[in-house]
Amino acid sequence: MLNTSPSGTLPDTVTELFPTLGFPTALAPMQDVTGLPFMNLVAEYGPPDLFFTEYFRVHSSARIDPFILSSITENNSGKPVFAQLIGEDLEHIARFALELQKYPLAGIDLNLGCPAPRVYRKNVGGGLLRNPARINEVLKVLRDTCQCPLTVKTRIGFEDTTNFSEVLDIFAANQIELLSLHARTVRGGYRSAPQYEFVNQAVRRLDCPVLLNGEVNTPSSAIKLVRETGAAGVMIGRSAIRNPWIFRQIRQLQNGQEMFHPTLMDVYLYVEALYLALSREGIPEEKQVARLKKFLNFVGLSVDQDGCFLHDMRRAKTRLQLNNICQKYLVKQGKAKELMSVTPYQGLVARPSSEGSSCQG
Ligand SMILES: Cc1cc2nc3c(=O)[nH]c(=O)nc-3n(C[C@H](O)[C@H](O)[C@H](O)COP(=O)(O)O)c2cc1C
Repeated sequence: MLNTSPSGTLPDTVTELFPTLGFPTALAPMQDVTGLPFMNLVAEYGPPDLFFTEYFRVHSSARIDPFILSSITENNSGKPVFAQLIGEDLEHIARFALELQKYPLAGIDLNLGCPAPRVYRKNVGGGLLRNPARINEVLKVLRDTCQCPLTVKTRIGFEDTTNFSEVLDIFAANQIELLSLHARTVRGGYRSAPQYEFVNQAVRRLDCPVLLNGEVNTPSSAIKLVRETGAAGVMIGRSAIRNPWIFRQIRQLQNGQEMFHPTLMDVYLYVEALYLALSREGIPEEKQVARLKKFLNFVGLSVDQDGCFLHDMRRAKTRLQLNNICQKYLVKQGKAKELMSVTPYQGLVARPSSEGSSCQG
């Protein structure tokens, strides 16, 4: 099934991809997480309305990464997928945008938010927020090149929010068709308090829909934040790793239906499914386990208040050890029937980058 508009062609507008009832949800792009296996798995638990690929790096010698491309061409969710680009080289941004439009994507999304120093030091991702004039040049090139919707994912500033209204004016001038706004500065990383009032500012300034992003951790907070800010919908990242049912739950709440409440047994089965989905032939078991542990860092925030699951899981080296730990905390001694906490337990911290190589985008 292709990831295009419901009519099967490249969409003319983003809003035609939105649900007819309620607000749209999106899975946030996450490098090393939201590849094809994770997208397909989330779709089984209740897909978001929109997907975004992890970013394609654009520079003079870059080629389209076939693994990232597969999340567009082999995605079997039937949901639209936006291709995200990161870069600032005008010639090669145009080259990538042209090349990518040969595939059934929902639109091209520009990353203006990545906070990793090795990225922003090259003046791409979040680094571009220090240079609004360059953002304008990049968007102009994309505007001229894109026959499909052009969208942006950004933060509210680099160091502070001084540039924010100027950057919004640039988005408006280049007629972007959707803005996903992570309500933190680049310096704010992933843990500072989100400043949702800037989402409301973007909603008031722009004609296009704005998706609110950053710390949307529960279905009820998604609904509350959309109502309070006037956002068109929500984009969810880490909480979708922790709770892959979250998009389905949001839809159920919006439709006045009873919300599905996963048990710890459901979580156990999800972890099993994740291991299988992420496994690659020929990769040593220890590496497969390390990769799964990056995801379990988020899952563990909803398993036990004391963080014992996180503590034990971080020490596992083999699949058997990991499975025994999952059995202990999710299945045995009546655990299987207990409900998973929809809200992450306060005071616990996910440390995915300490599990093997960094996956922070
Ligand atoms: C592991 C990881 C990888 C990420 N990779 C990307 C990326 O490739 N592109 C992007 O725009 N944002 C990336 N982000 C940021 C997320 O899309 C999102 O903006 C951020 O996690 C805040 O949303 P949340 O609180 O719902 O997780 C990444 C975040 C994480 C945790």
